[in-house]
Amino acid sequence: MKVLVVGSGGREHAIIHALAQSPRIEQLYAAPGNAGISQEAVCVPIAANDVAGMVDFAVQQELDLVVVAPEDPLALGMVDALEAAGIRAFGPRRNAAVLEASKIFSKNLMARYGIPTAEYQTFLDMDDAVTYLDGVDKFPVVIKADGLALGKGVIIAHDRQEALQAVTKMMQDQAFGAAGGRIVVEEFLTGPEITVLAFCDGKTLLPMVSSRDHKPVFDGNKGPNTGGMGTIAPNPAYTTEMARECKEKIFLPTVRAMQEEGRPFKGVIYFGLMATPQGVKVIEYNARFGDPETQVVLPLLENDLLDVFEAVVDERLDQVQLQFKPGCAVCVCLASGGYPGSYEKGKPITGIAEAEALSGVQVYHAGTKWEGETLVTNGGRVLGVTAVAGSREEAIAQAYDGVSHIYFEGMQYRADIGR
Ligand code: AMP
Ligand code: GLY
Repeated sequence: MKVLVVGSGGREHAIIHALAQSPRIEQLYAAPGNAGISQEAVCVPIAANDVAGMVDFAVQQELDLVVVAPEDPLALGMVDALEAAGIRAFGPRRNAAVLEASKIFSKNLMARYGIPTAEYQTFLDMDDAVTYLDGVDKFPVVIKADGLALGKGVIIAHDRQEALQAVTKMMQDQAFGAAGGRIVVEEFLTGPEITVLAFCDGKTLLPMVSSRDHKPVFDGNKGPNTGGMGTIAPNPAYTTEMARECKEKIFLPTVRAMQEEGRPFKGVIYFGLMATPQGVKVIEYNARFGDPETQVVLPLLENDLLDVFEAVVDERLDQVQLQFKPGCAVCVCLASGGYPGSYEKGKPITGIAEAEALSGVQVYHAGTKWEGETLVTNGGRVLGVTAVAGSREEAIAQAYDGVSHIYFEGMQYRADIGR
């Protein structure tokens, strides 16, 4: 089969690396890909959001499957456009990708179908939001832009002044563009966070092994939020009992709700969960694999990923059984100095081959490119060093051993991933 993966991050590298193991793959393409991906797939210079360009390429090359990994092209309807051109595509259609693309949609869906989540209010108008906040006496509150904002559209406001600043930033200054024109203000929840990714073919849902992201940039969860500085799978906080509770009260009701709304969800649903003292609640949905969750979940998957993708597209996931390795995976992200603020690019990277020579270590590329023969940095998150081992302690030790071999100027990472 000829398969194209849309996107250019560590998540896409992990997907490509898993697909490359499938005996049925004849040719892998990535658009636009990155330096690491180019060692396992042919990179095509089409931007991830270029719907027409992607469809043209898929038709020209007579591709057998296109995997749309990032949220933006999903929200733009890339899957719908590919299908309309007769190309099989993995990922939700636009009307289902709204589960991530609009927080107001997802909050209202959860309220309508009794899916546990934080109490909330939605505001389309800034004056109404300000009036509401004037009457709030319990802080923190959480303020969220309705639309896609690169994972940055969530502000935890610790007092009224911070809340008003957040609302002004989103609704008046349009810091997140149109995404912040409408907002959700919600109750602040506490408890360990858990990510569960699940394959879904519209009717059947198969959860993958749980994981945990580390979003703040510094050790001990200090500093501003990032796209994710590292991950561990399985998530030590996720018990068998919780998994049962989630399946019954969250996962299956979500699938049914989307079906009943006439928006059957095919692809990967990302359940961002919090184990609160009142039970597990949904913090957010995403309509895709997580980044860097994918870099720890797929290395533990024993199935042929291509088989699973096809079962989703053909709506026969009920015939699939997912198998995961028993051990643990840890991914440490190496970021450019200054990230998530401004940072420089073009720094030469060394030591990846030495890291990958260690047992169980795989380095996934995110922001990298070739400058001639030299591998250089090309983004905020540069690399993800994943280690798979029998236990959590071993996986952590092995991942940091891998990290110790890699260098680029300004390199920063968290030293407490998995702890
Ligand atoms: P999101 O982009 O929705 O995942 O939010 C980013 C982060 O903000 C989450 O991973 C949580 O750490 C935090 N967060 C979001 N919503 C809440 C909430 N209702 N209560 C507490 N923390 C939250
Ligand atoms: N790691 C968080 C996300 O993919 O949205």
